[in-house]
Amino acid sequence: MNLDRRYFLAGSAAAFQAVTLGQSNAARIPSAVIGVGNRGSQVLKGVLEQPNAAVAALCDIKPDRLDAAATSAAKDKPATYREWRAVIDRKDIEVVVIATPPHLHAEMAVAALEAGKHVYCEKPIGVTAEQVRDVVKAARNSKKVFIVGQQLRSFTQLQEAIAQVRAGVIGDVIMVKAQRHAGADLKHDGPSADWYFDVNKSGGYLIEQSVHNLDACNWAVGEHPIRASGFGGTLLYKNDPPRRDIYDCNVLSYDYPGGAKLSFTLNVFHPPGMPQGNQYVYIYGSKGAVDLMYSTNMYKLGSREAPTVLAAKREEAPHGHMTAFYDCITKNAANPADITVGASAALTAIMGHLAMTNQAVVSWDEMGVTL
Ligand SMILES: NC(=O)c1ccc[n+]([C@@H]2O[C@H](COP(=O)([O-])OP(=O)(O)OC[C@H]3O[C@@H](n4cnc5c(N)ncnc54)[C@H](O)[C@@H]3O)[C@@H](O)[C@H]2O)c1
Repeated sequence: MNLDRRYFLAGSAAAFQAVTLGQSNAARIPSAVIGVGNRGSQVLKGVLEQPNAAVAALCDIKPDRLDAAATSAAKDKPATYREWRAVIDRKDIEVVVIATPPHLHAEMAVAALEAGKHVYCEKPIGVTAEQVRDVVKAARNSKKVFIVGQQLRSFTQLQEAIAQVRAGVIGDVIMVKAQRHAGADLKHDGPSADWYFDVNKSGGYLIEQSVHNLDACNWAVGEHPIRASGFGGTLLYKNDPPRRDIYDCNVLSYDYPGGAKLSFTLNVFHPPGMPQGNQYVYIYGSKGAVDLMYSTNMYKLGSREAPTVLAAKREEAPHGHMTAFYDCITKNAANPADITVGASAALTAIMGHLAMTNQAVVSWDEMGVTL
């Protein structure tokens, strides 16, 4: 991992003092955000919060979003672009944050890495195994930091709870049951509706959204699965919106090399008032089980004792993952969501997607990506 001495010296307390005294853009890491829609405007706030970062460029093909982002970053006086390659071509830009729709991530991330930029790429890093393979190759050939926007990896409560699971607090992990259920389809006239319902652009709910949940499962099991099977379909929102080709229901099974099994379901028609909605990840071990996503309560097998809380609930820092990214650049900090994490999560989702669309058991090796 690259440690840039200039920024290391400008880090932490020194940077705080410099910013409060009105540090110039030149002393901060020139950074760009490509795609400033729903998520991009949030990650932009995260960049603006970093004492070591200056927003030098913003890019979007939609003028209204570009204008809104430029207004929110006005203190750094960023240049604005409609053509993303013009941002990558700028030699002075050292950090590129990518928050465009998923099918564009691989091409943009590869170009940014090859141009020698540090890259924060929103999840999923690709919607096909080929795209993931391209990003893996570029990230491995780069000496710069690559982080994927799987911010759960920076949630300290999860980090503490999963560290205990990995250390054996529930014995060997033998099964995971997880779900991501929503009460309604994504808004058909919402800000992402122009790409979301096209499976080639979003990958569908499994690849675009559940990549977070599947990553949490992999993290707790300590490895990625080696095969997947399952069924899915558009059961309720048939041709709604017109030409939709993403599923609204997935029922999947995954097999891990150590023997653990994962059962995962997804739907967008769970009535809000019905119990067991929303998202959860239950980790079952040989000595007990953990409700990982919210309470981190640990229940002992064969006991009716009250559960033990593995990690106290807390308010996570809203931009903790972005801070982790800049800490990798300036302090050589450990990367919580590196290329292996991002690629494993995306491929887990893609493998499940292929199992549903091919109506066959799909193995990890078939995807042809070496991690
Ligand atoms: N980490 C998270 O929790 C989280 C949450 C939401 C979304 N996301 C991810 O963020 C990404 C964006 O999602 P969103 O909800 O912000 O979508 P969005 O549609 O609101 O924003 C995408 C933006 O990219 C712009 N864009 C499209 N093509 C472009 C191009 N060629 N060059 C420059 N800009 C271009 C669009 O105009 C739009 O403003 C997706 O990958 C999504 O999965 C992550």
